[in-house]
Amino acid sequence: MTDNTSRIHGTWSSRWTFILAAAGSAIGLGNLWKFPYVAGANGGGAFVLVYLLCIALVGIPVMIAEIMLGRRGRQSPINAMRRVTSEAGLPRFWNSIGWLGVIGALMILSYYAVVAGWALQHIGAALSGDFQGTNALASSQRFAALLGDASSLVLWQSIFMIMTVAVVIGGVVKGLGVAVRVMMPVLLLLLVLLLIFGYREGNFSAGWSFMFNLDFGALTLHGVLVALGHSFFTLSLGMGAIMAYGAYMPDNARIGSTVLMIGGLDTVVSIMAGLVIFPIVFAHPELQPSEGPGLLFVSLPVAFGNMPAGLFFGALFFILVTLAAWSSAISLLEPGVAWLIESKGMSRVTANLSLGLIAWVLGLGTVLSFNAWEDYRLLGFNFFEFLDFITSSVMLPLTGLFIAVFVGWVMKEYIVREELADDSPWMMGIWYPLVRYLSPILVAVVLVAGIYDVLLR
Ligand code: TRP
Repeated sequence: MTDNTSRIHGTWSSRWTFILAAAGSAIGLGNLWKFPYVAGANGGGAFVLVYLLCIALVGIPVMIAEIMLGRRGRQSPINAMRRVTSEAGLPRFWNSIGWLGVIGALMILSYYAVVAGWALQHIGAALSGDFQGTNALASSQRFAALLGDASSLVLWQSIFMIMTVAVVIGGVVKGLGVAVRVMMPVLLLLLVLLLIFGYREGNFSAGWSFMFNLDFGALTLHGVLVALGHSFFTLSLGMGAIMAYGAYMPDNARIGSTVLMIGGLDTVVSIMAGLVIFPIVFAHPELQPSEGPGLLFVSLPVAFGNMPAGLFFGALFFILVTLAAWSSAISLLEPGVAWLIESKGMSRVTANLSLGLIAWVLGLGTVLSFNAWEDYRLLGFNFFEFLDFITSSVMLPLTGLFIAVFVGWVMKEYIVREELADDSPWMMGIWYPLVRYLSPILVAVVLVAGIYDVLLR
């Protein structure tokens, strides 16, 4: 490792810290909020299957590749790409992986903070008894009232953005370790409790069949693209986040088994979130699986409002959602910050404040898309949906494609072998063909077909 990097950013104390931090980045609103609502909006089972295939055949291989790039480059994504490209004697075009990453991450962070703000607001709502005895209709109205109130959305969005900036100013290694270590186990435990509640009180069999019965008629080409994009989103791929964390990974840690563990954990959390939410949705005819971005925030209060100690569990749940979002948001800010520090000689504080401000301003667009700008449409999307489409369904697959092609074809094979020296020999046998052939072809085909589908509608 270069002295320079460890001096500026620090290294993870152990492989385990890396796993926790990467899992902290991966597990977030993507699992608890986004996965259930995109699965619901795209008809359930067939979408879930395609999503799982995308994780296994594209997400995991690309994650291995991205960590490898970061560890090899040992700097912020933009400079890591510079270094790896010059090592390979390549044109500067390949640096765009780093660039696209930093810009895309800020775009995602902008709306991420707004949604995390909803979670923050729901902690107080739970504590003040707002969910007590609530029903589906009242819960929908409560959430609609929140969305209609732009100034309160901005308030919560701002608080969350300040929380994120504060941790990244503290430095990722110091700021993160502790939070993740406590949070993950509690989150899993609470999901299990909610699962039991949904099993006993909700319509579990309807929820289960919605998630696992295959109805391919319900899935559009755009839906397939959403599934692919979400497999990148949920694993934090394609935006330099995992690359930046990879830069802090010890040299001798095994990449393959580490990634399998993170990918597995992330998938389990998403599936559990679905199995918590859909049984509740199907127990209440007023709730629809295709509810959209409000799905989590409308359905779960109904459960909390009608279970013993619901006030406590409700508050705890939204605290956990906030923490999960927090540890993910950090990884959206860090790559850009690391780059400004390295290349522009900015201080950590200035870099954070500048990028945080940019993301905050852009986030105002998302806030307004739920009220004042509701009717402005681009390709049929409102501002939030458009931002989500461009980032999740276009930029993430595109950078993912670049990364796969780069590691599979451009990076010298001996370098790849060197990075995998501590991994099992299986890796070269299975992962290498995936990242060279299957992943890039799948991504390219789905990307073109999915965008075509959107432009045609
Ligand atoms: N993976 C996170 C989630 O599921 C979101 C996230 C964090 C992300 N960092 C990222 C998505 C980088 C894409 C790229 O909530």
